[in-house]
Amino acid sequence: MHFLASVLQAKSIVEVGTGTGVSGLWLLRGMTEGGVLTSVDLEAEHQRLARVVFTDSGFAPQRFRLIAGSALDVLPRLTDAGYDLVFLDGDKVEYSEYFDEAVRLVRPGGIIVFDNALWHDRVADPSQRDPETSAIREMIKKVSDDDRLLSILLPVGDGLLAAQLIG
Ligand SMILES: C[S@@+](CC[C@H](N)C(=O)[O-])C[C@H]1O[C@@H](n2cnc3c(N)ncnc32)[C@H](O)[C@@H]1O
Repeated sequence: MHFLASVLQAKSIVEVGTGTGVSGLWLLRGMTEGGVLTSVDLEAEHQRLARVVFTDSGFAPQRFRLIAGSALDVLPRLTDAGYDLVFLDGDKVEYSEYFDEAVRLVRPGGIIVFDNALWHDRVADPSQRDPETSAIREMIKKVSDDDRLLSILLPVGDGLLAAQLIG
């Protein structure tokens, strides 16, 4: 995430799933000076911890905007084509819906990244049909069927699916 934010010279990133700030910290480190990370999470307590992590790591409060709420309520309110990078790491069941919002939010040339694209090797196993695995498969199909996107599945961690908006 640090690498992607840096090569994009990202000024504006939106993340779903702040957690306790691990991914956000690496995104902030890769962004241009003054770039702003917008991060959404259902859990205000997670964001309280993330705020401490970002602040203790030297990032000024104006570098991050933490929005407490459900991704599918918040994302529709964000600006079209307003983000260099959109990082999705919230509720896996909602991944297919996050995709629809992400293609609207990312600017041309920008990148959409989904974490857990391998989902503990369940995605590649046809016998796995639970809601999370099925939703991740649906998102992957949407990405690969979309002619506006150039995508790659990076086998790091639990799998990162990265897609650039090329047209
Ligand atoms: C895997 S953790 C995120 C970890 C974080 N991205 C990191 O790498 O440090 C998933 C987070 O998504 C949040 N979450 C789950 N469902 C959500 C939803 N519908 N909208 C927003 N956030 C959600 C959870 O509260 C949790 O903090």
